[in-house]
Amino acid sequence: KKPAGAPSPELARPVRKVGVVGAGLMAGQLALVFAQRLKVPVVMTDVDQARVDRGLGHVHGQVDTLVAKGKLDAGQGEALKSLVTGSVAKDVYADADLVIEAVFEEMGVKKAVLAEVEAVVTPECILATNTSSLSVTEMASGLEHPERLVGFHFFNPVAVMPLVEIVRGPATTDPVLATAFATARGLGKTAVLVQDAAAFVVNRILLRMMGEVQNSFDQGTDAAVADHALDPMALPMTPFTLLSMVGVPVAQHVTESLNAAFGDERFPVSANLQSLIDADIPSLWAQKGEDQDHG
Ligand code: CAA
Repeated sequence: KKPAGAPSPELARPVRKVGVVGAGLMAGQLALVFAQRLKVPVVMTDVDQARVDRGLGHVHGQVDTLVAKGKLDAGQGEALKSLVTGSVAKDVYADADLVIEAVFEEMGVKKAVLAEVEAVVTPECILATNTSSLSVTEMASGLEHPERLVGFHFFNPVAVMPLVEIVRGPATTDPVLATAFATARGLGKTAVLVQDAAAFVVNRILLRMMGEVQNSFDQGTDAAVADHALDPMALPMTPFTLLSMVGVPVAQHVTESLNAAFGDERFPVSANLQSLIDADIPSLWAQKGEDQDHG
């Protein structure tokens, strides 16, 4: 069944090579899922070779885990690794059909990398943003061809989370949108069309819940009590564990976007969150996520 709001699937263009901008944790997960599911070459870029190498190392580590679990044989593992390459030069996107950015969750950074990418790609190449919370409309305004941009928001861990939020910008064409839906289907994901408003749908709900847990903690409830209060509702992980997986800086950026859009009443930015980041309390923040891109 065609998802609500999706254009006719016949309009979708072929995706034979994918570019991922950024080589952080989210980017590496995206690169792996695209290569594994679409079976196409994927190239990642980042600002220096060390980051590119770290990203490729992360992808290789994920493939090794799949092989160790018996989900791939050794030959399939090697073939998958060889599909994912990395570079510091954006011109590797020259023959890509789809380039998705997964760089840090800041509008200025995203606009700058998208402009750089647009300068090297073909006129047909689709640009996608994995932003968690920022305006796709605003991002498109920095492009020469805003009609080629689509929001394509994955969740962490990408290999496991079934949903993808697709966002239509003001100029996004039907073929671009149809390609996003077809690609999501090729990845084995369920794609939904969501409004272009702060944090779309999932993070708006998730951050509201996590904000209330944080708020109870700020008001004096023991951290473990606040964190485990919803255990009977069978969440897959506790709110603080999720926060530590997503990364505090990422959560902070998403909360700030929501705060700017909906105000302190609905989305207060906890002063305590910042002090916890500064204090680096290891028992709560097993993984600070400073190097993480957005999730
Ligand atoms: N990469 C690949 N696979 C992973 C993985 C990862 N990072 N983490 C877990 N998995 C796989 C495991 O390999 C395992 O697969 P098999 O059963 O085939 O072996 C499966 O997922 C289950 O994992 P575990 O048994 O280790 O643990 P679990 O049952 O507790 O599941 C979880 C782990 C999938 C992460 C689960 O706890 C969960 O769904 N948590 C909530 C995640 C969530 O809410 N994500 C959204 C975050 S918000 C976000 O991303 C948005 C943003 O924009 C900021």
